[in-house]
Amino acid sequence: MKISVVGLGKLGSPIVAVLAAKGYDVVGIDTNPVFVEKINNHIAPVEEPQLQELLTEHKARISASTDWAKAITETDMTTVIVPTPSGVDGAFRNDYVLSVMDEIGRALAKKAGYHLVVVHSTTMPGSVGGPVRQRLERASGRKVGPDLGLCYNPEFIALGDVINGLLHPDFILIGESDKKAGDILEGLYRKVVGPHANIARMNFVNAELTKISVNTYVTMKISFANTLGEICDRLEGADVSVVADAIGRDTRIGKKYLKPAVGYGGPCFPRDTIAFGRVAHLVGGIADLALSTDKVNRRQVSRLTEIVGEMIPAGSTAAVLGLSYKPNTPVIEESQGIMLAKSLKDVGFSVVAHDPMASGPARTVLGDAARLCPTARETLAHADIAVIVTPWLEYAEIAPDWIANGRTRFIIDCWRQLTPASFADRCKIVHLGHQETIAAAAKRLAAE
Ligand SMILES: NC(=O)c1ccc[n+]([C@@H]2O[C@H](COP(=O)([O-])OP(=O)(O)OC[C@H]3O[C@@H](n4cnc5c(N)ncnc54)[C@H](O)[C@@H]3O)[C@@H](O)[C@H]2O)c1
Repeated sequence: MKISVVGLGKLGSPIVAVLAAKGYDVVGIDTNPVFVEKINNHIAPVEEPQLQELLTEHKARISASTDWAKAITETDMTTVIVPTPSGVDGAFRNDYVLSVMDEIGRALAKKAGYHLVVVHSTTMPGSVGGPVRQRLERASGRKVGPDLGLCYNPEFIALGDVINGLLHPDFILIGESDKKAGDILEGLYRKVVGPHANIARMNFVNAELTKISVNTYVTMKISFANTLGEICDRLEGADVSVVADAIGRDTRIGKKYLKPAVGYGGPCFPRDTIAFGRVAHLVGGIADLALSTDKVNRRQVSRLTEIVGEMIPAGSTAAVLGLSYKPNTPVIEESQGIMLAKSLKDVGFSVVAHDPMASGPARTVLGDAARLCPTARETLAHADIAVIVTPWLEYAEIAPDWIANGRTRFIIDCWRQLTPASFADRCKIVHLGHQETIAAAAKRLAAE
């Protein structure tokens, strides 16, 4: 089976690489000629662990094109992973997917024989079985059915872990037009992921609702953990890590994502949660849990800003360590680190910041709000207080001798990567959701 992949961005180019690595001939298509050229030259268009290695190793099976007709007619299946940006109402917009359906349809009008179209982009319930299908049928002059298959197969993968996520997914979600289309996609996954791949098959609307429900359930767990953290910031003797660890032992709950720290960010969790609320609204309901989850998440930056303000006077210099929304990616969409840097600046702090991969995009959005330093060590040297927002592994290596000049008095270690005892009196390590360390740090400021 030959496969064309439309959209060579953060998910599309890793999909190309993984399919080629599993023996498929793959043609990438993108409206961005730079990405097409890069794929043709076997250069990763986006930064993602293992992507460059796979593109180099399997280059014989990979090409890219802007010639839709050729790419589609010469392949048996076309997968679509283009943006579905959120509108002001929180619903995903289908514009890009629909224009892709026009292109695919026009090419399919000239192709004989069966073709399978798979939509990976996240869509609102009702989209794939509604406007997406209509546009494909109208442009191709063919009906979805025995000789034209349509599937919805959304991705749950996190940036920085895309290749691993594609090869080892928790489960695979397939919405299908009919059994034949679903069987072909299931067969592909059994080859790519393995015979024991955990696959859930259903109609389009159930799959569309499942996609945003999974992410909303996960964000609900994160916001629950952070609510516990807020309580433990102030409840005498309380430590959220002890409580969360115990709760997670209950098999009805589980430990995954029950990790109290900072809020969630990135291109999926925030907008999928909001879209879930929007779906409820559109059918005359109210998704209170999703709305509250989002509300709790939005106040995490103010929570951190207030805690910093309780420890050190405004006018001091605060360091933000970590600006990408998670480790191993340069993506800063809905990043807590970026929001914290802006918020600290707004309340009167001078801000220095660092990120191992995201300093380029961060500089563009932060402008004068923060001074970016090339290393974490240099950042700390300028800071009276530091907040580790993104749990990059290199921040776990921060050592007491990095703050030898005695300037940095507190490090708020949101992900508990450091060992407080080893820093002794050089610098106080403060844990979010640990009343004792927060109160002790605040007491110091009050005594001065
Ligand atoms: N990034 C994630 O973590 C993630 C995770 C799960 C799901 N998703 C979903 O995947 C979809 C794509 O996300 P992404 O992060 O890969 O986006 P992206 O912006 O990184 O990449 C999209 C690519 O599509 C190309 N494109 C846009 N319009 C096109 C067109 N008409 N024809 C051909 N190419 C076109 C762009 O040039 C770009 O290269 C979205 O629906 C998103 O919600 C993303």
